[in-house]
Amino acid sequence: MSAEYDSNPHPALAHLRENHRVYDWTEQNAWVITRHADVDWLLKHAPVGTSDRHWRDALTAGGTHDSAWDRLRRETITFKEGKEHLRLRKYVSGAFTHAAVERLSQKVRSLVEIALDHAEDRGEGFDLARDLSSRVPIRVLGILMGVTPEMEADFCRDAVRLQNAINPLSDESALHEADLGADGFLELIGELITRAKANPGDDLISALIHHDSGEGRLDRTAVIGLVTSIIMAGAESTGALVNHGVLTLLRHPDQLQKLQADPRLMRTALEEVGRFEFPTKFVTRYPLEDIEIGGQKISAGELVFGSPGAANRDPRVFDDPDRFDITRPLGPTLTFGAGAHFCLGASLARVEAREMIGQLIRRFPEIEQAGEPQLSPHFNIRLISSLPLRLGEGAPREHYQES
Ligand code: HEM
Repeated sequence: MSAEYDSNPHPALAHLRENHRVYDWTEQNAWVITRHADVDWLLKHAPVGTSDRHWRDALTAGGTHDSAWDRLRRETITFKEGKEHLRLRKYVSGAFTHAAVERLSQKVRSLVEIALDHAEDRGEGFDLARDLSSRVPIRVLGILMGVTPEMEADFCRDAVRLQNAINPLSDESALHEADLGADGFLELIGELITRAKANPGDDLISALIHHDSGEGRLDRTAVIGLVTSIIMAGAESTGALVNHGVLTLLRHPDQLQKLQADPRLMRTALEEVGRFEFPTKFVTRYPLEDIEIGGQKISAGELVFGSPGAANRDPRVFDDPDRFDITRPLGPTLTFGAGAHFCLGASLARVEAREMIGQLIRRFPEIEQAGEPQLSPHFNIRLISSLPLRLGEGAPREHYQES
């Protein structure tokens, strides 16, 4: 759970994968699995359910009381199961279509462009985490939800509070401040719902409210739960992919140059970044009946952590897995999960990462690290909170706008 571990978790994960196929993690009262075949089976085929129990226990261990955020967290799709989960997914996938993501991609492009214009005008002191990757994903979610320019500042503040509230490793003052903001957040989402009902736009909340999948419309609590799920799941994870992606490219200059020379490699490069430096630390499941993995019995109701990052470097599936190669053919990575709970925002995350990483490295061909990254402790994200960069001379506009 520490930032030190997050900065290089691979040796520990490789040790587990080769020596402890099912590891008994007594401190967390949980099992840990790290092999690709085992994590894939857990997500796609095992008789398991999800629950926020471990999350709640971690928050309570930090002395946090049962706040309005906790109640919201329980309503999120990640912790729903069976028919109710299927029903909610039907609504989101009906609304969060390829066309909806495409519509957003132009807006993502210009948000990134504006952020980089500011950076270029300011000259010195660019921090990737502070100035780009923590800002763009939240603003994109705002656009997705139909947030107006007047509401944007409140929405971004509340989204950050929500992120802090669900991280048991946030410091006490961030948790306390987050608690104070829960009611305001609910009011803001309520206002968005009211507006979408009266005057539907092309945003996700309008689509969720007006979509009828044949089982009637979603009620207000369900819409609030989905909006919360998306904010919880969709901002810090995308920022982490971008931060680790840029850092990894800078640490592999030959790969960076290859990508700068040929932007068509972006698709495989992004998949490779997510495989090589996973943003999300674990997926969790609770067996509904006793199961067995590699001869180890796991009883119904016990907590199982699956590590997508360890699975992504399993030599049984990926050749020479510790080599970073942006031309590696697409493989069965588990970066966005798999099975019933597969990430609903994967295509949006890819668009955002493509724009942030792509524009940055094409516009600033001499980009380099200007300081060490700072990682902050987070329950489930490898969170880089600061990554100072020296951008160097900006390329002429026609050069970076061509693709
Ligand atoms: C690089 C960025 C991202 C990564 C690495 C990521 C990763 C994941 C993973 C591993 C899961 C599966 C969790 C499980 O099985 O327990 C998941 C689920 C989910 N993700 Fe993402 N995600 C990212 C971005 C996004 C974005 C941008 C959105 C929305 C805009 C989003 C929305 C969701 C939702 C709603 C779920 C829950 C789906 C369900 O339970 O059915 N994610 N994500």
